[in-house]
Amino acid sequence: MIRAVCPGSFDPLHNGHVEVIARASSLFDEVIVAVSTNRSKKPRFGLEERMDMARETLTLLRGITVEPMGEGLLAEFCRSHGAGVIVKGLRSATDYNYEVPMAAMNRQLTGVETVFLAADSHYTHLSSTLLKEIASLGGDISDYVPRAVLKRFTSNDGE
Ligand code: PNS
Repeated sequence: MIRAVCPGSFDPLHNGHVEVIARASSLFDEVIVAVSTNRSKKPRFGLEERMDMARETLTLLRGITVEPMGEGLLAEFCRSHGAGVIVKGLRSATDYNYEVPMAAMNRQLTGVETVFLAADSHYTHLSSTLLKEIASLGGDISDYVPRAVLKRFTSNDGE
């Protein structure tokens, strides 16, 4: 039984995240979507709202749970939850250069392995930051985010 963790801020979850999480759920027995507090970034959506959007979107997928990551290390979160694998999507060489040192450090910290999934070509240009900017300027993001996310943008516009 292999339990994997898909970590992130998910501020908000977008279709690129969903695609990677769905692929992780087909590769591993259980997947925990770990939603970070990430105090260094000022989130557009609160932690509970980010978790609700993920739960509403992902509950139909097999073996997926959504949990808060808390304030601590991701490697410790994985250990305390019995997860031996972290799954990350890679969109670009920039992602690679950012992620590989963290993967090496997480492995040294607790032995947790990181598995990278190459982002599907439909999603390599997606980022939560870009989508928030487009939405705040009145652009249409409906092709890029799940329904549970879109409805929160339209009921809470302009921020
Ligand atoms: O969606 P994001 O903002 O790119 O997610 C980043 C996240 C939450 C995965 C990353 O910031 C993280 O791993 N935070 C936990 C803190 C930690 O373990 N830091 C040391 C990494 S070696």
